[in-house]
Amino acid sequence: MPVPYYITTPIYYVNDVPHIGHAYTTIAADVAARWQRLNGRDVRFLTGTDEHGQKVMRAAAKLGRTSQEHVDITHERFKTLWTRLGIQYDDFIRTTEPRHQEVVRGFLQQLWEKGEIYPKDYAGWYSTSAERFWSDEEVAEAAWKALKSPAFPAEEAVAKLKAGELVGRCPDSGQAVEWITERNYFFRMSAYQERLLAHIEANPRCIQPENRKNEVLGFLKKPLEDLCISRPAARLPWGIPLPFAEDYVTYVWFDALSNYVSALGPVGGELHRRYWPADVHLVGKDILTFHTVYWFSMLMALGLQPPKQVYAHGWWTIKREKMSKSLGNVIDPLKLVDVFGVDATRYFLLREIPFGYDGDYSPDAAILRFNSDLVNDFSNLVHRIVKWAGTPVGEAGPLPELDAELLVVAERATAGFRAQMETLQFRDALEALWELVRAGNKYVDTAAPWALAKNGDTARLAQVLRALREVQRIVASYLHPFCPTACGEVLARLGLAGPDLRVAFDVLPAGATARAGDPLFMRLDIEPTLVALGAAPAALAAPAEAPAPKSKTPPAKEAPVSEPVAAPAAPANITYDDFAKIALRIGVVLSAEKHPNADRLLVLKVDVGEPEPRQIVAGIAKVYAPEDLVGRRITVVTNLAPAKLRGVESQGMLLAAGGSDIASILSPIHDVPAGSIVK
Ligand code: MSP
Repeated sequence: MPVPYYITTPIYYVNDVPHIGHAYTTIAADVAARWQRLNGRDVRFLTGTDEHGQKVMRAAAKLGRTSQEHVDITHERFKTLWTRLGIQYDDFIRTTEPRHQEVVRGFLQQLWEKGEIYPKDYAGWYSTSAERFWSDEEVAEAAWKALKSPAFPAEEAVAKLKAGELVGRCPDSGQAVEWITERNYFFRMSAYQERLLAHIEANPRCIQPENRKNEVLGFLKKPLEDLCISRPAARLPWGIPLPFAEDYVTYVWFDALSNYVSALGPVGGELHRRYWPADVHLVGKDILTFHTVYWFSMLMALGLQPPKQVYAHGWWTIKREKMSKSLGNVIDPLKLVDVFGVDATRYFLLREIPFGYDGDYSPDAAILRFNSDLVNDFSNLVHRIVKWAGTPVGEAGPLPELDAELLVVAERATAGFRAQMETLQFRDALEALWELVRAGNKYVDTAAPWALAKNGDTARLAQVLRALREVQRIVASYLHPFCPTACGEVLARLGLAGPDLRVAFDVLPAGATARAGDPLFMRLDIEPTLVALGAAPAALAAPAEAPAPKSKTPPAKEAPVSEPVAAPAAPANITYDDFAKIALRIGVVLSAEKHPNADRLLVLKVDVGEPEPRQIVAGIAKVYAPEDLVGRRITVVTNLAPAKLRGVESQGMLLAAGGSDIASILSPIHDVPAGSIVK
């Protein structure tokens, strides 16, 4: 019996125009699902749309549609996008479907009968944009931020808020909040605090990555409150009515989270027994608390098991800002598909940033990644031997040393790939596999089939073709979940119906030929591609007037470790020997945290290719949040004498660009290994 594997994406707000952030989660889930299917698991992959709530109701009214008409139209945007992106979901759930509503009402009734839900009068700050209540301090802090006031004097701000001198704001949207008093229904979530902690402790991998789990544990240190799970239908009719109080509708998150169970049909039914608890809920880091604290406690109250894992990935940002319709910086995944094709879009999104961390989208990086990995490496591996497509492979037999070495690389690369896929480390899985892609290309150089053909060494040529076509088969089979179209084509050219994960050079039948074809990927020129992507290439952008540098005397006692102060004037010419005195290396940031005594300093642990990581203190806290730096490659001066900065030792200096305000750290375009020399 194949082992079940149930994977889900969040159900997307039907009102949103899908962007690369949504595409990212769904592609990740699709790749994981395809990989598990390839490995014989009984996979169920669920996605869908979240269709209730105030925003939907308002958008529909604006367009002169009923809410139902509106969601019937808008949810199609997601379905269309998933089809274009090659997403093979097994089920698409919509929260307006009767099958979902029945389950939600059943859950509510059950919790009501158990006494887990009770009515209470409640007064609080309500945000219509976020559809939730916030505390005094939360809305005061958001209001303070909007005023761009530096420090937040909590007590003073709350006092002003209560006196009506400060307009409270929603921490999510920044919009003004309203003070509302109403009777509502509450779920006794506070009763689950200890059980949640015990569950997380007993199931250490149930929230991943580790730093996200720690966030949830941090959240659970504060007393947990009961959860308001209703909204008066008079204010918000677009939702699922509570079965025991039909003049109320269900809070959107209670409604939405239930989709993971409702999509499996009735609890106790065939699908439910087969697939619940889910193996993994993939979510963005923004909705982790809902998926752990709220969802786990709801399930516990219902006598159901929590999912085996909730994996929270990071965010795609644009110039380090959140993507949003209002900022007008949303990247349309279909644009990427038009320019790069489906496979390359899928590949790029998962290859570029470690799953779990944030990453900034850059069209230049996408083009470079395309040209280097897909054109130079992968497509090349397939195309370089295309002229011998009609030449049959030799008998499988003992491998000469060169071929045996290639097989060892294949074993190592695929084992690495497997291990990384188990923990959803897509980028690292691809990096592992690429060792084989590069080794395959190197093998072509060394084995030189053209020379064998010229010298009439047909026996060795047939052997070399076997090794190379087997490598093509292995790469295309493992890469298939990421790039299904191109890999399907490679396999078809080899006469195979689909992926075959065996790591051996005796899989292809003796005498098999291949089918010739065009290159899988063709090099893209940077400038026209940037234009096609809607990004103005730097060369075409109007040159900015550089302001005359203001001379500033650095404060005497500050050590010059990445401090935002004007650099002393450099001499016009130095010799190479002078330059060579500076040891520059690429480092990978392993951890980053705020300096205990200085707001603008961060303390980083950086792997510079030495046995122990270096500690580097850098004045970049105004531009980078610590979590944005982890996993990044930076440039480090490694032979600067150690210095203490506000009491913390710095064993080097990172390079950053900008004047008195540092604007950017310097990172290499390609992921060169930690410790790479910069010269
Ligand atoms: N409807 C809720 C989810 C309910 S699940 C029971 C919701 N929807 S959403 O459309 O706003 O976004 C859902 C998910 O889209 C995020 O959690 C994340 O997975 C993905 N992303 C949205 N923007 C993103 C980025 N900028 N970057 C990466 N992923 C992001 O929240």
